Amino acid sequence: MNIVSLVLAAGKGTRMKSELPKVLHKVNGVPMVIKIDSELKKAGISKNILILGHKKELVIKEFENRNINIDYVTQEEQLGTGHAIMQAKEVLKDFEGTVLVTCGDTPLIRNTTIEKFVNFHNEKKASATILTAKVDNPFGYGRIVKNEDKVIAIIEEKEASDDIKKINEINSGVYCFDSKKLFASLEKIDNNNEKGEYYLTDVIKILVNNNELVESYLLEDNQEILGVNSKVQLAEASQVLRNRKNIELMENGVIIIDPNTTYIEETVEIGKDTIIYPNVIIEGDTKIGNNSIIMQNSRIVDSDIADNVKIESSVIEESIIEEGVTIGPFAHLRPKAHLKENVHIGNFVEVKKSTLEKGVKAGHLSYIGDAEVGENTNFGAGTITCNYDGKNKHKTIIGKNVFIGSDTKFVAPVNIGDNSITGAGSVITKDVPEYALGLGRAKQLNIKEWRKKNDN
Ligand code: UD1
Ligand code: CA
Repeated sequence: MNIVSLVLAAGKGTRMKSELPKVLHKVNGVPMVIKIDSELKKAGISKNILILGHKKELVIKEFENRNINIDYVTQEEQLGTGHAIMQAKEVLKDFEGTVLVTCGDTPLIRNTTIEKFVNFHNEKKASATILTAKVDNPFGYGRIVKNEDKVIAIIEEKEASDDIKKINEINSGVYCFDSKKLFASLEKIDNNNEKGEYYLTDVIKILVNNNELVESYLLEDNQEILGVNSKVQLAEASQVLRNRKNIELMENGVIIIDPNTTYIEETVEIGKDTIIYPNVIIEGDTKIGNNSIIMQNSRIVDSDIADNVKIESSVIEESIIEEGVTIGPFAHLRPKAHLKENVHIGNFVEVKKSTLEKGVKAGHLSYIGDAEVGENTNFGAGTITCNYDGKNKHKTIIGKNVFIGSDTKFVAPVNIGDNSITGAGSVITKDVPEYALGLGRAKQLNIKEWRKKNDN
């Protein structure tokens, strides 16, 4: 298939009222322009040229950060969608075939729709085909003007007469064009209109006047054309994508108790029979295995969670959680926490950049940072690794089967041998050998009759 796609993404997005370029705003966790790019690739379109302008460095960086290669041309001044496409004239001067145009602010279009649309255009051998939708409220969109089923023009909201405004078939902003005819027609458009812009949509009436065949292809699911021009529409688009994601997961065997209050981003993978309770947020590059339970009010970001894990009301960031681990309620796993099989992390425990070997338990009120902890070691309530001396971070290395007395403070760097024990309330500043009792606290003193002498 001889096809190139152009993605319009140069605009500022004034109506977004934002410092960020419009196309970088996220829909269900993915910047709109990245979402479009991935749908185009899934539709089998490998040559994809972005038209960038406003803060283009930020857009390019977003692709670079994800290791996605892009081709782009620059539209220095944003003089309208027609002017934007003109910027690709030079790079496409020798190209003969179909140009597919999409908009960076129309993120709900499905790859399957793109495929069907392109096939329709090719089968009809049209000079241009417009992807259209029939909507209840066409306000703001270009209207498809027809004469006995034949497209004759697209008229923008601002130029539309009252009669035209009543037309409820609208332009999605997605088109296929014969490349040569597109660029020839663009030479003829002007900016004598309400917005003072060069409208790509004016190409349609030029083609029609030249007796070229212009077709329209009506969408089955008109949600797909939602154009995001404001933050209200951004939220609407995210909601649609979230809903799609929840349905996809449930169809693949995930149990979602209340999809309306479950926020799972596009990029997340979840296995069969895992149960997601209400008010759960799962973001980014997160994978969850089978038969796990993620209970209410948990937020999981960029983490790997294995099978048979139970997490309740906890925050988990960039961590690895192995099989059979239980977490929460009210735990916080910060980046690089690695919990091996059957670890238990309970209430008000924070773990950061630490590896906890199989069967480690920290049930209550602890901070474990920059630590390595051996198998089956037990943390008493209130244990803290004092990892920071005000300048540098230091490591706490704890062996296996250690019994850590409640309220122990490990002043790092410090090594605690296998099978050792620490006394409750100890401040451990020196290494503890294996099998030893480490005690680091003042000896208790009982002063007799103290209250009788002092309280009166
Ligand atoms: C456009 C269409 C309208 C259609 C609607 C669908 C035109 C004139 N109108 O209107 O018929 O119903 O999309 O959502 O095309 N852009 C540039 N350079 C520019 C101007 C815009 O790259 O100089 C980009 C924007 O970043 C955006 C896209 O083109 O991604 C659409 O521009 P926008 O201003 O949002 O057009 P609409 O008013 O929505
Ligand atoms: Ca738009």
